[in-house]
This record gives sequence, C-alpha cells and structure tokens, in this order.
Amino acid sequence: MYLTKDEEAILLGEQGETRQQLMEILVAVGTVFGAEKMVPICSAQISGASYKTIGSWGLSWLSNLDATATVPAVLNPIGMDRIRYRELLISDDFAEKQLAVVSAYERLGIQLACTCTPYYIRETRYGEHLAWSESSAVSYANSVIGARTNREGGPSALAAAIIGKTPAYGLHCEENRIPELTISIENAPESVDQAWYGALGFLAGKEAGAKIPLFTGIIPADDELKGLGAAMAATGAVALYHVAGVTPEARRHAYSTKGTDIITIDAKDVFAVFTDADIDAVAIGCPHCSVRELQNLASLLKGKEVIKPFYIFAARAVIESVQPLVRQIEESGALVFADTCMVVSPAMERFDRIMVNSGKALSYIPNMCGAAARIGTLPECVQEATKRE
Ligand code: F3S
Repeated sequence: MYLTKDEEAILLGEQGETRQQLMEILVAVGTVFGAEKMVPICSAQISGASYKTIGSWGLSWLSNLDATATVPAVLNPIGMDRIRYRELLISDDFAEKQLAVVSAYERLGIQLACTCTPYYIRETRYGEHLAWSESSAVSYANSVIGARTNREGGPSALAAAIIGKTPAYGLHCEENRIPELTISIENAPESVDQAWYGALGFLAGKEAGAKIPLFTGIIPADDELKGLGAAMAATGAVALYHVAGVTPEARRHAYSTKGTDIITIDAKDVFAVFTDADIDAVAIGCPHCSVRELQNLASLLKGKEVIKPFYIFAARAVIESVQPLVRQIEESGALVFADTCMVVSPAMERFDRIMVNSGKALSYIPNMCGAAARIGTLPECVQEATKRE
C-alpha cells in the first residue's frame, strides 16, 4: 500500500503514540482489503459509543488515547439521552459509565452529536469520501446521497477521524459500486406508508446478502429510502443500493438490469410482514427521525393521549430545530429523546412486545432487547398507543 511521506511519518511514530497506533489500524485494514493508497475524508461517524456495547474494556482503551480529530466527526447513538436519561429509567450507575465514554470521545475532539443520521446535521455531498460506521448511515450516504464510505468498525472510524484519511478500497472505488443483482418489485402501490419500505427492506436484505441491488418498480422518497436501506443493512449486509430513476448514481449511469440475476418481490409479500399482535410500547425513529417524520407525528398525535409508552428518537440538533413540534408531540404523552435509540439503549429491555415502523428495528429488537417486535404504519402505531382497551 502506497503511503505519502507524511503518512509514513505518522506510522513511524513521529506524530505521537496515539496517531501511530491509529495509523497502524488504517494500514492493517487497507492491507487486508487490498487498498492501494489512503484517501482524505470529509467526515467520520463512529460506532462503539454505547456503554451497553463497548463496556469497561472499550472505555479503558478510549481513555488511554491522546490525539484530536482532524475532520468533523460525530458519534453513533449511545445508551441514553445525555440529559433526560432518568425519564428513560436508566440507572445512575449506567449513566455514570455512559457519560464517561462520551467524555472520552469529547477529549478526542469528537462532537457529541450521537446519531445515526449525521446527514441531517451536516451537509453531506455526492462524491465525498467518508468513514462512517453505522450501517443505516452508511447505506444512506452511499445510496441516497452518492457519497462514498465502507462500513467502518468503531476503531477504524475513530482512526480515520483523527488521521483524516481512510484506506481507498471497496465502496470508495467507482468500479465497486455497480449493481450486482436486480430486485424487481411487482404491483407496488402508488402511495404507501414509509413502514412499507422498511418491510420491503426486511425481505430484500435477506435476498441481497452483501450484494449491491438495483431496484425497479418503486419510486420511494428520501425517508422511505432511509427505511429501505436501514432494513437491508440489518437483515442483509447491503451498504449500497440503487433505485432505477431515483437514486443519484442510478440516474447518472442509467444502470441496466442486463447481466444481473433478477429476484422478484410482490407487494403482497411485503404487506404480509405487517401483523396485528398485542403490544405494550411503541418506538419510532429507527433510523433517527427527520423533521418531516416529526411533523407527521405531531399531526397524528394532535389532541390525542397516549396510553402506552411511546418513545420517539431523533438527533438532538433536529429536535432543537423544531421545538414547537416536539412540544406538540409531547403534549400527547409521547416522549422525544436525543442521543439514543430503541436498540442501543437498555431502556426498552423492560418491554415484552414493541411496535415499530422500521424494518431494521423489527429485525434487531428481538435479539438486542429480548422483546417481540411488530411493524406497523405510523398511523397504526399512533392508534395502538392511544386506544383504550
Ligand atoms: Fe439508528 Fe438505532 Fe436504528 S442506531 S438505525 S435508531 S438501531
């Protein structure tokens, strides 16, 4: 792997032990995956920020590092809202450890925006190279924006944030971004709730595995693309997908379905993912809500009272940008939290049956929270949470 003189100097320890250690991580990853060189990145998003997932070993590793990020970098959601954690019934012991993890990252120059939707808080552009970790964020960046990122592990994303570069392999290279599979959607309704695309992604991810699919037969909007990609990254390992005539690279290259295997999914199979099981809580915001989703929630919850716990998750900057809407949502009894989510926080572990509008949450909640999960449309989620037995 070719290194510039400056990169070699970092590797030799001329810029301190931490930068040397982190450069070693990048070179090791690049060597394993056959990168020819490093590429400068515009931003990083770092997973491994919830104390629930990194534990005391991760905290101790972070605390021993001594360097500063050289590009804008944010964290993935952590185990709790940094301010309102008591409302999530998080124990003081967990909160103390989680805040220690956050402080360790802050000391390294990482911004304390803890979100899987970094594209809502910092403009991310077509063609930019990134080092992002969270699978739905990676999928959105690659597919919906046309930026370039592999799915980084927590340590390699942190290393990239501090060095400002990442090894140029995989999805950083144009030739690795071409569709490998066609997923043809039959009988797709003209207008469906966003959850339908989550359910579609739930099925399509299992078909696609780690391949790059090209969808035909659907015209999703941005929030729907977000739900589709997040679910495919959960049930499969899809880090990039295209939608004919919709996503930027599919439009630019007019990809053809010729020469790829074709899988067909009928809309009725997607509707079959929706069930009507009993639930004891609702969780919305996987991935974190956009302003538009918060607007929809505010209008659906207006004048209603939620009877069952109803949690909504979004980036703090998004929440702060629409305070009147958030107040309107919370007048119903629903709670809007920042920094965390239904999967990485221990808060949801006390429920047995959780309703979501996300294909990714549908896939993750059983294992991560030990609860049954049911997917429904946003109006159905509101209806279930507000109906009196
Ligand atoms: Fe984001 Fe948590 Fe879902 S990190 S994509 S809200 S599992």
